[in-house]
Amino acid sequence: MSVAVERVLLSDPLMGDRARLITVGGMASLAEIESEVRTYRTQLVAAALAVGALVALALALATVRLTRPIHDLTQVADRIAAGERNLSSASVDRHDEFGMLARSIMRMLDALRDSAKNEEQAALGRMATMIAHDVRNALSSVKMNVKILHTHHSRDQGDLAEGCEIALEQIGYMENILTDMLDFARPRGLVMDWVDLDEVIRIATLSMLPEIGERSVVLCQSHERLPKVFGDRTRLIQVFQNLMANAIQSMSNGGHLTLDAKSTLHQSRPAVEVLIADNGSGIPEELLSKAFDPFFTTRTKGTGLGLTIVRRIVIDHGGAIRLEQNPEGGTIARVMLPLSPPEWEGGDVLGHVRGSPSGP
Ligand SMILES: Nc1ncnc2c1ncn2[C@@H]1O[C@H](COP(=O)(O)OP(=O)(O)OP(=O)(O)O)[C@@H](O)[C@H]1O
Ligand SMILES: [Mg+2]
Repeated sequence: MSVAVERVLLSDPLMGDRARLITVGGMASLAEIESEVRTYRTQLVAAALAVGALVALALALATVRLTRPIHDLTQVADRIAAGERNLSSASVDRHDEFGMLARSIMRMLDALRDSAKNEEQAALGRMATMIAHDVRNALSSVKMNVKILHTHHSRDQGDLAEGCEIALEQIGYMENILTDMLDFARPRGLVMDWVDLDEVIRIATLSMLPEIGERSVVLCQSHERLPKVFGDRTRLIQVFQNLMANAIQSMSNGGHLTLDAKSTLHQSRPAVEVLIADNGSGIPEELLSKAFDPFFTTRTKGTGLGLTIVRRIVIDHGGAIRLEQNPEGGTIARVMLPLSPPEWEGGDVLGHVRGSPSGP
């Protein structure tokens, strides 16, 4: 039987309850209509499957894109937690949130590395302090006994007296090393007061006279009267003693040690500039700044801590220090000290013992 069919209303399970109109058009047998409907259904199912497959593929791709960096970052975090510190993450080059997260983790890792290094250094410092302290105590007892021995035998002029003198000299050398080590590992606070810099330089020079004489060094000293500076007298004497010692030690065959000082400005603040010049062996240009590094030394009996400690003291006073090549051969140490450290005006920011300045 043939019927005239314009359109067939189809209830499609894939469309839910919604009815759907399909156009068949013209005269058609029922069998044709059924076939048309089957074809339509098949196409519909195929299309649905294709869409489903595409969605599944897109989801799979998106999942891989999301899970790979998460997996990478989780692994990095687990390895950091396990104590590893030399790590890198493939996600740091990404320009999305994972990249941001990876970069944050890497920064955290850097901070962890730094703090581990600081802890290690602090532990080494504590160990050095403990050893230096205990050895120095033991040494002072040895020194006392050798001194007693020397007093009893100084008139003998024999081997024992000479042995005592050598022992005392060596003890003095060891004491210097231990004092440097303690100063470096456990810097003492500054005891600040108004200090007469002329007197500081004079005391430092007087203490160096034996070495100056020993090496036939000529001392040239001519400078204007200096204003007082707010600083730690003992530590400032130590600064000039160290710088003069370096200068004298560089002139094994004699030479000129020149001290010069004047009032000046440092970073627009009233300051004093002191020059300690020698015409000794000199320092090669590339080593001028390295000379301040801890343990850098070219002397067989040096600890290489002298300039490190000097620079720390000068900086704690708000000043600056520089080594230069002397145009006449040798070295110039240029020390700049503000009359009062800028930090001091804001209070006790350096945490040092504060004096009670009565004014310069
Ligand atoms: N005036 C100078 N002339 C030549 N070399 C110098 C001078 N001052 C410093 N140096 C160089 O810088 C190095 C470091 O000096 P620093 O005072 O820190 O240590 P040191 O003198 O070797 O030992 P110490 O700890 O006993 O002072 C010296 O070993 C030397 O090579
Ligand atoms: Mg030195």
